Amino acid sequence: MAGKGGVGKTTVSASLARAAARCGLTTLVIEVEGKSGLATLFGQPPFDYDEVVLSPGGGPDGASDVRARTLTPDDALIEYLEDHGMHRISRRLASSGALDVVATAAPGIKDILILGKVKQLERSGTADLILLDAPAAGHAISFLRSPRGLLDAVSVGPIRTQAQDVLDLLDDPARCQVLLVTLPEETPVNELIETAYSLEEDVGVSLGPVVVNGLYPELPGLGTDPEVAAGAAGAHLLPGEGAELRAAAQFRRHRMELQAEQLARLSGELPLPQIRLPFLFTADLGPEHVDLLARTALADIEALTELPGTAAVGAPGAEPGGAR
Ligand SMILES: Nc1ncnc2c1ncn2[C@@H]1O[C@H](COP(=O)(O)OP(=O)(O)O)[C@@H](O)[C@H]1O
Ligand SMILES: [Mg+2]
Repeated sequence: MAGKGGVGKTTVSASLARAAARCGLTTLVIEVEGKSGLATLFGQPPFDYDEVVLSPGGGPDGASDVRARTLTPDDALIEYLEDHGMHRISRRLASSGALDVVATAAPGIKDILILGKVKQLERSGTADLILLDAPAAGHAISFLRSPRGLLDAVSVGPIRTQAQDVLDLLDDPARCQVLLVTLPEETPVNELIETAYSLEEDVGVSLGPVVVNGLYPELPGLGTDPEVAAGAAGAHLLPGEGAELRAAAQFRRHRMELQAEQLARLSGELPLPQIRLPFLFTADLGPEHVDLLARTALADIEALTELPGTAAVGAPGAEPGGAR
C-alpha cells in the first residue's frame, strides 16, 4: 500500500485487511511509520513490535483474524543479529545508535532490514496475506528500490543474500504486489501516476489495482431549483434559503465535476483496474466504517475478477489472492 501522505493508505490497509479476513484469509497488517491510527480504526489501543489481534475472526460471518504489528529498523536489526547467534552484541549495538552510523554509510540499510523481516514473515507462512502500510510515496520508491541498490554495492555476505531474497520477493507478482492509493484530486492523481511508472520501471515490482479513496457519492436532484422543488412538495422556503441551497448544490456539482475529471484522467493515463471507495461523512472512522469500506472493496474486487471466461471469486478452484 503506497501513496501520498493523507490519501488514506492506513484506512485502505485496514479496509482491505478486513475484506481479506471476510474471505477467510488470515491477515497481518504491518505498520512501519508508527502512530498510523490503524489500531483506532479497529477500536483497539495502540500496538507495538509485538503482534496483536485487531479484529478477531470466528464470528457468524466466518471471518478470519486481522492481526497487526509494527516493524522498526532497530528491532529488525536486533532480531536479525539474535537469529544469527549475535545475542550479546545485538542490543548494545542497536541502543548505541550504531545503526544510524551504518545507515549514513549505506543508504537503504534500514529499508532492507524492514523488507528482510517482511520477507521472513512471508516465508514463514504466518498469515495468508500480509499487508504493508508503506511509507508515503516519495519514500516508498527508495524503500522498494533499496535491495537493488545494495546488490550493486555489496558483492558478498549476509547483506547481499538478504537483498537478493527481498528482490526475489518484490519481483514475483504471485508473492508481492503494490497497491497505490489516491484521492480523486489533481495533485495526488499526478503523484500516483508518476509513482506507478517509476515503480514498474525502476523497481520492477508488480502493481495491483489502484485504490481511489474518498469518492463523493452521486446525489440525485442537484440540478433541481430549490424553489421549484419546494413548490412541488407543497412547502415554502424561508427568505434566503433558496439562495443557500442553490449555492450548496453548485458547490457539490463543481466537486463532482472535478472528481469525474480526475477519475477519467487516471483511467486514461494508467491502464490499471480500480477499486473505488466512498468518502464517509464522519469525524472519526471506526470498525463499522472499516467494514463498510471492506464490503465496497470486495464488491469491486469481485467485479474485477468476473472477466469473461474466468471463474468468479469464491467458486471452487478460484484463486484466493483476489484481495491482494
Ligand atoms: N474514505 C474515507 N472517508 C472519510 N475519511 C477518510 C477516508 N479515508 C481516510 N479518511 C480520513 O483521512 C485522514 C487520512 O487517512 P489515513 O488513512 O490516515 O491516510 P494516510 O495513511 O495515507 O496518511 C484520516 O483522518 C482518515 O480518517
Ligand atoms: Mg498512514
